[in-house]
Amino acid sequence: MHGRGPLTIAEALAESLGDGQRVSTGDSDRDLHGGDLTFHAPRRPDLVVYPVSTDEVSRVLAIATERRTPVTAFGAGTSLEGHVIPLRGGISLDLTRLNRIAELRPEELTATVQAGVTRLQLERAVGPYGLSFPVDPGADATLGGMAATNAAGTTTIRYGKMRANVLALEAVLADGSVIRTGSRARKTSAGYDLTGLLVGSEGTLAVITELTLRLHPIPEHVVALRLGFEDIEAACRTAAAIVGAGAAVTRVELLDEWMVGAVNAFSGTTLPVGPTLLVEAAGSRETVHADLELVRAVATGEGAVEILAEEDADARRLLWRARHDVTHAAAARVPGSKERATDVCVPVSELAASVRFARSEIGRLGLHAGIVGHAGDGNVHVSIHVDPSDQDELARSDGLVSAVVADALARGGTCTGEHGIGQGKIAALEAEHGDLLPLMRGIKQLFDPLGIMNPGKVLRERKVRPALPGSGTRA
Ligand code: MLT
Ligand code: ZN
Repeated sequence: MHGRGPLTIAEALAESLGDGQRVSTGDSDRDLHGGDLTFHAPRRPDLVVYPVSTDEVSRVLAIATERRTPVTAFGAGTSLEGHVIPLRGGISLDLTRLNRIAELRPEELTATVQAGVTRLQLERAVGPYGLSFPVDPGADATLGGMAATNAAGTTTIRYGKMRANVLALEAVLADGSVIRTGSRARKTSAGYDLTGLLVGSEGTLAVITELTLRLHPIPEHVVALRLGFEDIEAACRTAAAIVGAGAAVTRVELLDEWMVGAVNAFSGTTLPVGPTLLVEAAGSRETVHADLELVRAVATGEGAVEILAEEDADARRLLWRARHDVTHAAAARVPGSKERATDVCVPVSELAASVRFARSEIGRLGLHAGIVGHAGDGNVHVSIHVDPSDQDELARSDGLVSAVVADALARGGTCTGEHGIGQGKIAALEAEHGDLLPLMRGIKQLFDPLGIMNPGKVLRERKVRPALPGSGTRA
């Protein structure tokens, strides 16, 4: 090309993509792809690449393999355990330009989308058909990122997490080869479930480029109930009893007093400040009525001090918007702070005890933290707000995370219900599934023998492989 000796990796990528504008070594691009919204310390990639097609992703990965350069996929940058931070530098692969809804099939309740399509973009596209894609983490994340982290949200109790809603994937392996898993059929028993494996693999095995998703009909009738309690354990017991009674609810969400105060201040809501459950039922008028009668009876039995129904669609939308914005609300309550989210999940019968333990640890360690939870799933988040430059506060937050995880494991639960392992929960994964690590490492080795796929996430790195000379990477 120019006879100046070997190409740097940036030059090789620009040549391969035929567009130098989509390979950036600029400071602002590198800054934007070096961190997330949480307390995790940023680390800039050496370059940011913006592919527009699967074929381009394939070419980028082939070059990364040739140069032994790490690749970290980037979507909306809203994950919570440092997944998108390129710990070893290299390439941040920004997939947001793969943003085409490839095919909507309302008659079979499926859609095929590129990885950079966001969940609200899909919602807007399928709404006119009376359909919805209900997996709803707070942020407007990309669907590729949501699949990579096996994301969930407030409706998981009814619709499941991403893994339950992904039928098929297209993904690119480390060497650049393109694979297709699953099919458009609603179920399959064809061999090992590689769709299920890649969902939740956090970019450590492959880069997801396209997904075929299940869609769901928008229910005819929806009612939300706001339940107020004097103590948080009564709220948790109510959630567990709702699940145990088999009520067909779509949401059972918990907010503690601290979080309700934060939400009111941030979102302009006027929720009574106290432990609160937000429950929603959806279906026909009759089934919703029956399900919510059951919820009222259980809540009354647990001493609910307020039960209020919200039937108006706009009011419900505002309520759920406020719930989805809890992370921002909590950050606003502790100015200058960054979030450190915990994410344990316990059997619902253990929910009240798990929350009681978390509350007492927050007090003991003197941290700024509120609790939200997908209570119907037994999934508890302590949303800790820390000053990342305050080493003492960070150490206390380490203590809280470890204690809450150990407590959840002792109760038969797991260290993460939805946020994943990333870089923040590696020790917790080892504590939970130490005996499975050799199998997990074997899988990693098979997919990524050179260790270039999002190194330092999910599994502890064995050794750091330096980039080959001429890769053009810098610290
Ligand atoms: C949520 O449920 O809102 C998030 O998963 C929690 C968080 O951001 O901590
Ligand atoms: Zn959550």
